[in-house]
Amino acid sequence: MDIFDCHSNAMTNTELEKQNAAKAALEYVKNGMVIGLGSGSTSEYMVRLLGKRVSHGLQVSGVASSNRTASLAKSLGIPLINLGEVAALDLYIDGADEVDSDFNMIKGGGGALLREKILAHNSKRNIIIIDSSKKVQKLGVFKLPVEIIPFSHKSISEQFRKMGLNPVLRENGNQIYSTDENNFILDTDIRKYPEHDLLNKTLLAIPGVVETGLFINYVDVLIMGNQALEKTEIFHHQRS
Ligand code: A5P
Repeated sequence: MDIFDCHSNAMTNTELEKQNAAKAALEYVKNGMVIGLGSGSTSEYMVRLLGKRVSHGLQVSGVASSNRTASLAKSLGIPLINLGEVAALDLYIDGADEVDSDFNMIKGGGGALLREKILAHNSKRNIIIIDSSKKVQKLGVFKLPVEIIPFSHKSISEQFRKMGLNPVLRENGNQIYSTDENNFILDTDIRKYPEHDLLNKTLLAIPGVVETGLFINYVDVLIMGNQALEKTEIFHHQRS
């Protein structure tokens, strides 16, 4: 029985699309691989499916992109290693908040963008798994998360405000949201900046900006669940 069958009747199309994309990504996993494990709800489906395959004898090691994913992977018996223990990941599988027609992405809705980008950068192949709502013509309806160090959050916020980015300091209840690396996040409106590569470089040049959720040129394979077409679509992209 499929591990998700117990609640599939209640599943929305979006959840089914996420689940189907996660299932399709598992086809790329082979014995002996080192797999980067993404964060977020779509990645969670993938990690649960991977855990099931590990329990049936698949031998892989995982590198987690967040503390939350690490806890889930451990609970499922997926062996975890540190990034420093390997030259490169064989595969990195993760979700996204938006993917545009050039295969560029906004990520970090779940706050894990820094480790996610490090894993994507250090992987031989990146597989992105999404539901169909994530595919957009142009990035920017979703607010771009930018990870910054707490020491300079007010000055960076002011600089972003002057740039027209309408920064909002992310909160968690009544507290400032803190990332796994103990940094803060500013969620920004990038719609005035259509040149995303340039914007990314401009933001990264500001002292105290640690990383942005703009993932330019990181997708090798995009897997999108599509309930309207009743299939899972797979797009291959040649990275430049
Ligand atoms: C986590 O920091 C993000 O980059 C996620 O990959 C992204 O937010 C997608 O999450 P969902 O799969 O929950 O939509």
